[in-house]
Amino acid sequence: MGATATTEPLLIATGVGRAFRGLQALADYDLELRQGEILGIIGPNGAGKSTLFNVLTGFLPPSSGTIRFRGRDITGMAPNRVAQLGMARTFQNIRLFGSMSVLDNVKTAQQLRGKAGFWETMLNLPSFHNKERALTEQAMAHLVSLGMANFAAADAASLPYGFQRKLEIARALATEPAVLLLDEPAAGMNEGETAELTGFIRDIHQRFGLTVVVVEHDMSLIMPLSDRIQVLNYGRVIAEGTPADIRANPKVIEAYLGAEDAAAMEATA
Ligand SMILES: Nc1ncnc2c1ncn2[C@@H]1O[C@H](COP(=O)(O)OP(=O)(O)O)[C@@H](O)[C@H]1O
Ligand SMILES: [Mg+2]
Repeated sequence: MGATATTEPLLIATGVGRAFRGLQALADYDLELRQGEILGIIGPNGAGKSTLFNVLTGFLPPSSGTIRFRGRDITGMAPNRVAQLGMARTFQNIRLFGSMSVLDNVKTAQQLRGKAGFWETMLNLPSFHNKERALTEQAMAHLVSLGMANFAAADAASLPYGFQRKLEIARALATEPAVLLLDEPAAGMNEGETAELTGFIRDIHQRFGLTVVVVEHDMSLIMPLSDRIQVLNYGRVIAEGTPADIRANPKVIEAYLGAEDAAAMEATA
């Protein structure tokens, strides 16, 4: 970590907005993401959560505002450049290379870091083969460290849904990010899978020294995991605070949380 990383928050969004034709999907969004924190983002469908991720990671340019990451202005920067600077994400809908092996899925993500030079590839130089082998070994070691090596040779699409979700996270981690953004990682998971995923996120947060932003509807994941929670509604942050603050906030309960979710939050209190 350079000196700048300790003197300024890792990621700073100031007055960020995004409109689609007439629709203001995100408005006046501010964030100072602290090194090492886990920020939870909740809000009803259509609140602007995925739009926020798209704007932060360069998949969509914002209509207004500025975004700084690790001391640099990244507003409007292309997604692969943002990724190279150390921001990784997963998608609400799984995006894997289904007909490629688990190992190759990790390798393609790693290439963002350890690029074989153009001429080396073209001329088939020995150093390219060494890099290729190094990449394979690194990818395997990565899968081993995440306890996912037993499926290394299987096609991604052939694996259980919960494993595919984890593989997406493994791919994101293979880019060696400082910040990991997870968009509804527990979507479609049962209670047991969600509990396992919660432990997995906690574990990688520790081991990789990550800063994490997680969008999720499932309170059993968001409440125990988050240091801080922002609540989005109609593109705006309507509440922000610790899980305890959010649980007790009548505005949140009214605007977003039905009786069922309120009860679920009580249960995780
Ligand atoms: N690419 C897009 N083009 C047009 N409208 C979009 C696009 N992406 C999102 N929206 C709209 O923006 C609003 C917020 O969507 P989204 O960010 O996906 O919400 P959430 O992830 O909180 O469910 C919704 O009304 C959605 O229809
Ligand atoms: Mg979404």
